[in-house]
Amino acid sequence: MKIDKPNAEHLQLETLAFADAMTIKDVARESGFNISTVSRALNGSYGVNDQTRKHVMAVAARLNYRPNRVARGLVTGRSHSLGLILSDIRNPFFAEVARGAEDAARGGKCDLVLCNQSLLEKRIDGILMNSVSALSQEQQAQLEASAVPIVLLNRSPSKQRFSTVCADNESGGALAAKYLLGLGHRRIAHLTGPRQHGNLTDRERGFIRALQTAAHPVQPTVLHGKFNFTGGAELTGKLLDEHPDITAVFAANDVMAFGVVRAALDRGLRIPEDLSLIGFDNIEFSGIVHPPLTTIHQPKYEMGYAAVEILIRLAREKAKQTLEHRLLGVELIERQSCRRL
Ligand code: RIB
Repeated sequence: MKIDKPNAEHLQLETLAFADAMTIKDVARESGFNISTVSRALNGSYGVNDQTRKHVMAVAARLNYRPNRVARGLVTGRSHSLGLILSDIRNPFFAEVARGAEDAARGGKCDLVLCNQSLLEKRIDGILMNSVSALSQEQQAQLEASAVPIVLLNRSPSKQRFSTVCADNESGGALAAKYLLGLGHRRIAHLTGPRQHGNLTDRERGFIRALQTAAHPVQPTVLHGKFNFTGGAELTGKLLDEHPDITAVFAANDVMAFGVVRAALDRGLRIPEDLSLIGFDNIEFSGIVHPPLTTIHQPKYEMGYAAVEILIRLAREKAKQTLEHRLLGVELIERQSCRRL
């Protein structure tokens, strides 16, 4: 695909548009009110009657006036920007989280900026991040010292110094186990990511506990590897080499499950006829692939939304900073990747 480079004419037009940007002074002059009244009218503050507010808003709209957030930030001490740090932007799970986060940010009149660790050097009102362990010790120390509000996503509340939003991963693992047991599976494997991911260990714990406490207890085979498509494929190769009698696999997320499908197909195995498969997340693709994937739904949009709601509250509270933890429910979505034995 060819991407047009901006030409000199484009650049000139953009520069002109920038030079012509209307300021609050223009709105004041055009409307006949002073800057303080215009500012209060535009911000919905007290002391401005309805007629004045409507007039000022109409003038602002006619002039195509956009508030300058940087200038406003100098007065309020807030930039009205929130940072989003994600561990793996290729995983569609995060696209849905980001949609919820963006909608909540817009509702709170904030911008949401997708960024990496360099964010720590920027002026930002709050940070929504997947994991602090992705940061170096030095960056973590900087973060704590800066007192920028933080909400951790996908982390359960225990021992956290920050607010958290997380799905009930342990219950999700248990749901997957009970479903496979109900279909008559006994030779079951769980393919998952690195052990230091708390959300994954919660899923694993719930899964194993439900299998071990069943009327006829089952001891699953558990393999740890990379938490992505390649990891799913590699672990499946290893699993099928060492345990060719396995009848069902619980993959720690949908992207890993797609790797399981690929590795199974490469060996001439069919899903679900030769191998049953269940994922976790319920990303949009899981209903589109063949066979449609049975999976555990995480409320991704709601998680992003909830996290930003908390961030905005913390940013307003400034010094108070009451920690908040939200645990959201999960559910089993039954499709066609598992069969009854
Ligand atoms: O790290 C990304 C993963 O963690 C997602 O696939 C989702 O399962 C989340 O909880």
